[in-house]
Amino acid sequence: MSESSHRRVLEPNATLFAILTTVGVSIGGLVEIVPLFSAGSGPEPMADVHPVTPLELAGRDIYIREGCYNCHSQMIRPMRAETMRYGAWTRAGEYQWDHPFQLGSRRIGPDLQREGGKRPNTWHYDHMKDPRSITAGSIMPTYGWLFEQKVANDDIIASINAMITLGVPYDADPASWVPANVEAQQKAIVADLATTKREAAPDDEIVAMIAYLQRLGKDGSAAIAAKSTP
Ligand code: HEC
Repeated sequence: MSESSHRRVLEPNATLFAILTTVGVSIGGLVEIVPLFSAGSGPEPMADVHPVTPLELAGRDIYIREGCYNCHSQMIRPMRAETMRYGAWTRAGEYQWDHPFQLGSRRIGPDLQREGGKRPNTWHYDHMKDPRSITAGSIMPTYGWLFEQKVANDDIIASINAMITLGVPYDADPASWVPANVEAQQKAIVADLATTKREAAPDDEIVAMIAYLQRLGKDGSAAIAAKSTP
């Protein structure tokens, strides 16, 4: 339809225009929805994706509390520019224990799906304290209070219990195993930070945050490398 007949015939006729718009939008919707009817129960679970540790879960709770997802996605799209910058594109199975998953709402900062292991603990420590000391001109806020506020085992145990009710396969009776597990991981991170003269108490929130950031994208790599997952 030429531009002028669009203007002359369609645009003055609100009813016809509304009907044709509805038809157009419906076709677009059906094209997206209908294929899902034959998609079965969803993606296959990935065997080498495991629930995060209790300390990482505490870091994840802080990530949610601070709204990091407002600026950071955890979803790498299957496009060349994305995979070259961030690594293998995200598989649905990677989120299977992530409640709620942290897809993110906008990408003001970089995607964090494969952040784990990209940078040393000290880098994250310095960056969270003052992003501009690491990346000139960064618009990421400083998170100084993560160096003062503490994580509490009781809160971590409550989070683990919540995850268990959602079907995440943590061992039962978290009160009996979480504190030792948390302590061991805290100690390892604090000791690593100490090698570069960065001070942190084991229960500082920054330690949990670093644990979480270093876990991102660590699981599922075997299935992704074997291309056994869609
Ligand atoms: C206002 C938006 C904004 C918020 C909120 C924000 N960030 Fe960022 N973040 C950025 C920007 C922009 C960058 C890139 C510049 C830089 O490195 O500081 C970045 C970079 C990062 C990086 C480095 C990624 C890489 O490998 O280059 C990490 C890790 C990170 N942010 C974690 C966090 C965490 C954790 C939180 C929540 C506590 C958070 N960010 C909140 C904007 C934000």
